[in-house]
Amino acid sequence: MAEKREFRAIKGTRDILPPESGLWNWFEQTAREVFETYNFREIRLPIFEQTELFARSIGTDTDVVSKEMYSFFDHGLAELEWRRGDLIGAQVMHDIPIQRHDFVESATRLLDAFDRAIESGELSDTPENHRAIQEIRLASQIVKSPGPHAGPGISSFKAAVLQIQTAAWKLRFGDQVTLRPEATASVCRAYIEHGMHTLAGNVKLYYIGPMFRRERPQKGRYRQFYQIGAEVLGQSDAPGIDAELLEMLLEFFRRVGLDETTLYLNSIGDKNCRPQYVELLRAELRKVKDKLGADSQRRIETNPLRVLDSKLPEEQRVIEEMPRISEHLCPECREHFAKLKEELALRGISYVENWRLVRGLDYYTRTTFEVTAKGLGSQDAVCGGGRYDGLVELLGGPPTKGIGFAIGSDRSILSIRETGKAPTPGRLTVFVAWMGSKVYPAAVEIAKKLRSAGLSVEVPAEERKFRKFLELADKLGARYALILGEDEVATRLFTLKNLADASQQKLNENELLEYLESERRGKGA
Ligand code: HAM
Repeated sequence: MAEKREFRAIKGTRDILPPESGLWNWFEQTAREVFETYNFREIRLPIFEQTELFARSIGTDTDVVSKEMYSFFDHGLAELEWRRGDLIGAQVMHDIPIQRHDFVESATRLLDAFDRAIESGELSDTPENHRAIQEIRLASQIVKSPGPHAGPGISSFKAAVLQIQTAAWKLRFGDQVTLRPEATASVCRAYIEHGMHTLAGNVKLYYIGPMFRRERPQKGRYRQFYQIGAEVLGQSDAPGIDAELLEMLLEFFRRVGLDETTLYLNSIGDKNCRPQYVELLRAELRKVKDKLGADSQRRIETNPLRVLDSKLPEEQRVIEEMPRISEHLCPECREHFAKLKEELALRGISYVENWRLVRGLDYYTRTTFEVTAKGLGSQDAVCGGGRYDGLVELLGGPPTKGIGFAIGSDRSILSIRETGKAPTPGRLTVFVAWMGSKVYPAAVEIAKKLRSAGLSVEVPAEERKFRKFLELADKLGARYALILGEDEVATRLFTLKNLADASQQKLNENELLEYLESERRGKGA
């Protein structure tokens, strides 16, 4: 008998069940509608990409890349893996010929399996693998015939065994891939891959989907979470682009009832002015190192900007005294930021300037922003974004400007629920209570007609007592019961019972359709 076992969703992941899933669909649909009015179009991206894409874009020193990514080698070459295991795990003595023989055999089998995998196209012949394979081939010769004299023979024998084992360890049987922790890197990769720089105007894209980060789960923080993101890529970095993107973002939040949000704004300079500022900040932070905690002390050396992100109460006074980037921007960045503020004023967008808003990903330049919402506790950022001019170039594409944001759907929906403004999800409109097997075909037929008019209809597949049907209709939250007996079918006059007030009316088929459709339009059923 199979072992009894209770399966549960993995920590940090969860199921989104109805009726909550209705809220999610409405939330995502509203984003589509708002974004399309700003001429953004959807891009559907893969859930996993080469690890290197994220490492290079987000930065190897960031928390996301150094601690939080779900990465694995993507290959189905189990044979290569265990043959390598055999080789690496083998003990082999110089003076025991059978061990030497077995070891060389293992190496040969690995080499053969490797060649077959290359030939069949399952494995790509990278320069690194090529080198490792050559090393194994050459060193195998020495192991096979280690020379007649014990002295140098043994040392070269030992070195050859070690060389084989090390080279085998270095072999990579497939790409290292990562479940995407965010999607800006993927959008840039796709922009390059499909030559989108040749398209007219700016390329305006949005995406909706799950992201993965191995963070400590808590309220509003998950390991599989959902984002709705938008990116603008092209040749222009006009501040009007930044402002329009923020206008679209806030319009979306307004449409979904998240109007008590705060937009925080900053400019973190570019490659001309930021490096000097970072050095200045580092020098100032070093002077007060003793007053900072271990994390911040480490960051002084690795990434001093991240110290500004610290939430530790005891560090706040020290950090507030630090030099501010706004006072160290180069003239071009200063002008860009000033123009952005004019553009925001033009659109009536209010914001709070926050010089400490540096964001946790390395690709940002100039404009950075975050939006916070109510009712979320410490994880209150519902959106983050900024400019990333130069990222496309860093990934091997042409010089390109870029800006974008990602909304955290989990947190936004949590906040919408807390405000009590969440719309009631779609309800069942009609429950067809049919009586007698002769009536059943008519029940199926009328249900089909109502459904093609866009109404939500439940028609039970098995007959039950009329009273039971009405109880079930009530429990399912139906607004109406359509009562169908032999009389109704004969006269083609249907009884429609309003389950809220128990009122009834008799309607023919056309009247029924007209009535329910007008009700639906009125009540959003
Ligand atoms: P991010 O700030 O890392 O930016 O994430 C954006 C939003 O995703 C956050 O504000 C938050 O609402 C949500 N989020 C992040 N991690 C989690 C989590 N573990 N659980 C729940 N929600 C989470 C980016 O991802 C950038 N790619 C945004 C961007 C687009 N910048 C330019 N273009």
